[in-house]
Amino acid sequence: MKVGIINGGGDCPGLNTVIDSIVRVLYPDYTIYGFYKGFEGILKKEYIELTPDFTLPFRFEGGTFLKTVNKGVFASKTGLGESRNIEDDIISQTIQSYKELGLEGLISLGGDGSMSIANQLAKHGLNIIGVPKSIDNDLMGTDMTFGFQTAVEIATEALDRLETTAFSHDRVMILEVMGRSAGWIGLYSGLAGGANMILIPEIPFSWDILLKHVKDRTTQGKKNMLIVVSEGAMPDGGEVITRDIGATSSETLLGGIGEAVEKFLNNDPDIESRSTTLGHIQRGGSPCAFDRVLSRSLGSEAAQLFMQKKFGQMVTYRNGAFKHISIANAVQEIKHIEPQDHLIQMAKSMGVCFGDEEVKHFQ
Ligand code: F6P
Repeated sequence: MKVGIINGGGDCPGLNTVIDSIVRVLYPDYTIYGFYKGFEGILKKEYIELTPDFTLPFRFEGGTFLKTVNKGVFASKTGLGESRNIEDDIISQTIQSYKELGLEGLISLGGDGSMSIANQLAKHGLNIIGVPKSIDNDLMGTDMTFGFQTAVEIATEALDRLETTAFSHDRVMILEVMGRSAGWIGLYSGLAGGANMILIPEIPFSWDILLKHVKDRTTQGKKNMLIVVSEGAMPDGGEVITRDIGATSSETLLGGIGEAVEKFLNNDPDIESRSTTLGHIQRGGSPCAFDRVLSRSLGSEAAQLFMQKKFGQMVTYRNGAFKHISIANAVQEIKHIEPQDHLIQMAKSMGVCFGDEEVKHFQ
């Protein structure tokens, strides 16, 4: 019996941990192929046979020893929420390789993009189990994707460090974090790092309220301030800011809203602000303890599902329990934060401003 493991999309802390866990459960009953660079590895038949001895040294390393891509013939997302269909001949060639390799099925570790590819291939008869990966935490059906908590830890540490300069210089320090069209990293790191203002895509902000909040604090002698801005945050009635980095990406990349807020605030002579874009630092390095445990569990659950032949399912972590939902349902839409989410309401009650309304008192 042969199973293939695939990881696609952006790298993410916990990928190697999940792979090692799957191998530990399925070996030696299954011959396990680790495909290089996502689904392209099947197409090109580029793989390595995995054993627990092989995966052991990588299990808590960041990134993925299988390498990965989020562009090329399998790119299924535009980066702005829309999906793209994979071309028919690529699907047929993939199915042919899969059959020639004699695979019983695949375990695919991926975010929204890779799950969309898995969904398209599953519709053509490939046996696939999904494992939810993403620092963005934006996959439906699961409370948590692996990699998210690590990103939050890194962003929180960045805020702790920015706080020093905010305090010493009486400055407004802005941290732009990733997350695409979801504000999970922004919300969690903002709360954990004690941000005074959190701007997320789910709550469009008003420039007037933003300025008023900073100025009112300044008037009260509170000139030091931390603002977390998710890369997908946008002003009410405005648009998301995208980055042009040349032709290397097949997805639209977001970024620049942190600098836009910095510039806007610095137009006021009483305010001094600086912005930092955390970028890929929040996706790099080893998984934190929580993500190691989550990755171990998700990997083992995926292997169990595979043995039970529950194909077409993605493992989920909900309310402290491991369950599964169909991959088709998981990719129907992005998991956004509800503006009524208890964390947002709690933060607002403590004086954290989200840029949509004034706060009664300052944090
Ligand atoms: O989806 C993960 C993510 O890190 C997003 O938060 C970010 O917008 C994007 O990937 C960056 O992509 P790339 O690695 O191609 O620059």
